[in-house]
Amino acid sequence: MDRIAQLTTRPPGREIAYDPAAAPPSLQVRAAQVLEGNWTGRSTVPSRGLYPHQWSWDSAFIAIGLRHLSPLRAQTELETLLAAQWGDGRIPHIVFNPSVPLDAYFPSPDFWRSSAAGRAAGAPRTVQTSGIVQPPVHALAVWLVHLADPGLSRARGFLRRAYPRLAAWHRYLVARRDLGGGGLVSVVHPWEQGMDNSPCWDRPLSRVTPAPARSFRRADLDHGAPEDRPTDLDYGRYVRLAADYRDGGYADGQGEFAVEDPAFNALLIASEHALARIAGELGASGRERAARAERLTAALVERLWDPAAGMFLCRDVRAGEPIPERGVSGLIPLLLPGLPRDLAATLVRTVCGPHFGLGGTTRLVPSYDLLGEAFDAHRYWRGPAWFNTNWLLERGLRLHGERGRADALRKGILHTAGASGFAEYVDPYTAQACGTTGFGWTAALALDLLHDRPSGDRNGLTAIKGGDRG
Ligand code: SER
Repeated sequence: MDRIAQLTTRPPGREIAYDPAAAPPSLQVRAAQVLEGNWTGRSTVPSRGLYPHQWSWDSAFIAIGLRHLSPLRAQTELETLLAAQWGDGRIPHIVFNPSVPLDAYFPSPDFWRSSAAGRAAGAPRTVQTSGIVQPPVHALAVWLVHLADPGLSRARGFLRRAYPRLAAWHRYLVARRDLGGGGLVSVVHPWEQGMDNSPCWDRPLSRVTPAPARSFRRADLDHGAPEDRPTDLDYGRYVRLAADYRDGGYADGQGEFAVEDPAFNALLIASEHALARIAGELGASGRERAARAERLTAALVERLWDPAAGMFLCRDVRAGEPIPERGVSGLIPLLLPGLPRDLAATLVRTVCGPHFGLGGTTRLVPSYDLLGEAFDAHRYWRGPAWFNTNWLLERGLRLHGERGRADALRKGILHTAGASGFAEYVDPYTAQACGTTGFGWTAALALDLLHDRPSGDRNGLTAIKGGDRG
């Protein structure tokens, strides 16, 4: 019996919920039950109602937790996603499950029309996907999944098969998405960066003419409270940008929206470090990859660091200027081993200062500036705390020697994940659950933190730091 079965199987006739004498199931068991419930056979849905397909960065975070329960299932999760890669190297942000009704999620496959509209870009014929991407967490996830069971990974040729796909994915980003010409990758849609309605996008999005409200029907409002979700106006703009991209055959460089984002680029850099390790494991040199990671880090600092804000800011490529909003994205580069020491120290001060409140006013790091005019404690990415960004910051704090703060944040994440029913996101002040519950990456990342030994090597990141020179 594998770990998932052990943790989630109840003996017949002994339903835990109805036995008043039984101890409540542990956090680990409850997290495993979420992942079991969201598993479809080849991948894991972020949530059964709101997000009924496979999402790219969700899958990467989910695999990072799943590896502790079933390394085989974690490998399969990532392999399913990689199998939907396009010929030009992009990994789509959604891989659609054909057995889910079209009206269960919008935009559905008949909106993206990937195999027809994406033909020139090499979209797969047999599986339907979206045409945009999400943050490149995948090589990091592949490396961490490998570390969970290197024997199984070698026996299945997991790294050998994943490596060329991951390399092509990074090549796509670096070659096709340097829209600002300064060596960083741009996102062409807010959904690509993953923090859909962050106030950071308000300015560049304001130039986009929304698609008429009657031209589409939002399925997300069937599952989430409207005050927790993006507004109709924002949705109209998302639809317009996606439709224009599709109608241009998913060719890059033309769209109205192009933003260099610190988190997207930082995750690419972390994944380059991971690819260097994977290359080393496969007997090749990782030196070139490590050098690329260093170049990207230098470009990130040069183009996006804002000394006055004490953090990184997004850059509006079309307007040619920084976006003066403090989003959590600007703190995520803390997870980079190669970040200059003084910048790391400044980021720690910022995360603990009045704008993000860690260790003071907030339970978890909010997605947006507590003092910003647009702050809203409940609405999607305009203030609530998310578990993946907090997990990344916990790693970053630990990597840069902030053990006490990292331990406290770890505790806060674990407590809030359990108390909120593995919520999609929470009010950063009260930890009240928002969005949906039983959310895949919340359960997975809690499991990952439960398996960590706080004082030891944080399963791979320090290894990446020390071993990326080839
Ligand atoms: N996050 C988006 C949604 O809410 C798209 O990936 O559907």
